[in-house]
Amino acid sequence: MSDSDTRKSRVGRGQPAPRTGDRRSGSERRSHAEAPPKSERRTHQRRTGRDRRSETGWQLVEIVQTVIEDEGQDSLLLAAAADARTRAHAQYSNFRVGAALETPDGRIISGCNIENATFGLTLCAERVALVKALSDGEAVFTRIAVVADTEAPTPPCGPCRQLLWEYCGDIDIILGNLDGPTARYRLSALLPLPFDRRLLG
Ligand code: THU
Repeated sequence: MSDSDTRKSRVGRGQPAPRTGDRRSGSERRSHAEAPPKSERRTHQRRTGRDRRSETGWQLVEIVQTVIEDEGQDSLLLAAAADARTRAHAQYSNFRVGAALETPDGRIISGCNIENATFGLTLCAERVALVKALSDGEAVFTRIAVVADTEAPTPPCGPCRQLLWEYCGDIDIILGNLDGPTARYRLSALLPLPFDRRLLG
């Protein structure tokens, strides 16, 4: 095999570069053409991603609360969520959560979080309430209440937001603790750019 054949198969396409007196590889030539001499190089461009991340300091995004008028009966839904919370299986996190979904005719379906030794198979209270309701034949929902024993509101996690969006639409989410309501959101405020079946084409 000639020298030019070898180069062709290595590059995999096109004609071999015309041979010149310069026998350095392409990348060697490019770096020489574009980079200033080593002594003048800006060293900060040589930091790793980890260095840069620690400098920029990743911050939690602040959630802006969308205030929704209480249409009444929040307390009933919150009470159902708080009651379901007492049945939580949260033996690994000790973070007990209850949820209660409401249908248009006023039916309330509740759920609690259910953990297990693999951790990853944990079921959130919202998802338990949702799958109970769906398997009972319910298909339309108006609101969901979520209760945890925390001062700050406990909003649904990402996967729960996705499922609530798909099966409940843009419902109201009432968050509360053992003392009462702490916040209200519209689901679209918590999941502003949802992926759903409309995008499947
Ligand atoms: N959890 C819920 O059930 N719902 C939420 O909205 C947040 C988190 C549960 C999952 C897990 O069992 C525990 O809380 C700690 O994350």
